[in-house]
Amino acid sequence: MLMLTIKLWLKEQRALWRRCRRGAALYRRWPTLRITEPVSWPHDDLDAIEIGHRVSIAPFTEIYVQARRIESKVPGGLRIGDNTWIGASGNIRAVGGKIIIGKNCLIAQHVSLIASNHNVRAGEIYLAAGWDETRTGVTIGDNVWIGCGVTVLPGCHVGNNAVIGAGSIVTKDIPADTIWAGNPAHQLSEVK
Ligand SMILES: CC(C)(COP(=O)(O)OP(=O)(O)OC[C@H]1O[C@@H](n2cnc3c(N)ncnc32)[C@H](O)[C@@H]1OP(=O)(O)O)[C@@H](O)C(=O)NCCC(=O)NCCS
Repeated sequence: MLMLTIKLWLKEQRALWRRCRRGAALYRRWPTLRITEPVSWPHDDLDAIEIGHRVSIAPFTEIYVQARRIESKVPGGLRIGDNTWIGASGNIRAVGGKIIIGKNCLIAQHVSLIASNHNVRAGEIYLAAGWDETRTGVTIGDNVWIGCGVTVLPGCHVGNNAVIGAGSIVTKDIPADTIWAGNPAHQLSEVK
């Protein structure tokens, strides 16, 4: 019992150490990055990440960046522009496609940006199946406001100055200077 407890403790310490090393690498490369812990940011290649000046990440966000995965030939990657703010409990899945966020964006709480889908074929275990390589990545322009609880699905592009209402599910491209909301999101109006 004691051995098991020690083994579990050591495993936890090693995981914590790996997390600290990853976090330190991010701060070394982007000293103006402002992370309010706890933030989970696993990544397999720092070169697949590009962060602008004074980017802020609020607590309980998970940013998952994997440049290479066996399930997809499409590389994962993440770019966040200057002065962009990501609210609490964000969920950024930059794997099997790239997530590109412009500058001066306001991404509210509980927003999911998803770069790829699992392939869905009858008789297959979805978890073990490959990922769709046709509709991948999410692009968010500059000065975009994404309301809380929004999900942007793979392959969607959001134009500059767009606004997406709280709780929306974005399933297609959103043109610049427009306001969208709903599930699926539809255009409410234009930014005037
Ligand atoms: C999208 C938003 C900005 C629109 O504001 P607005 O232009 O003042 O829109 P209105 O309140 O006049 O609503 C216009 C119509 O859109 C609908 N609508 C507004 N927001 C909606 C939303 N999030 N989802 C679905 N429908 C929405 C309204 O019900 C209304 O419909 P109706 O014309 O049939 O009555 C706002 O509703 C919103 O969702 N803000 C996000 C707030 C947030 O998440 N903040 C996080 C902190 S940063």
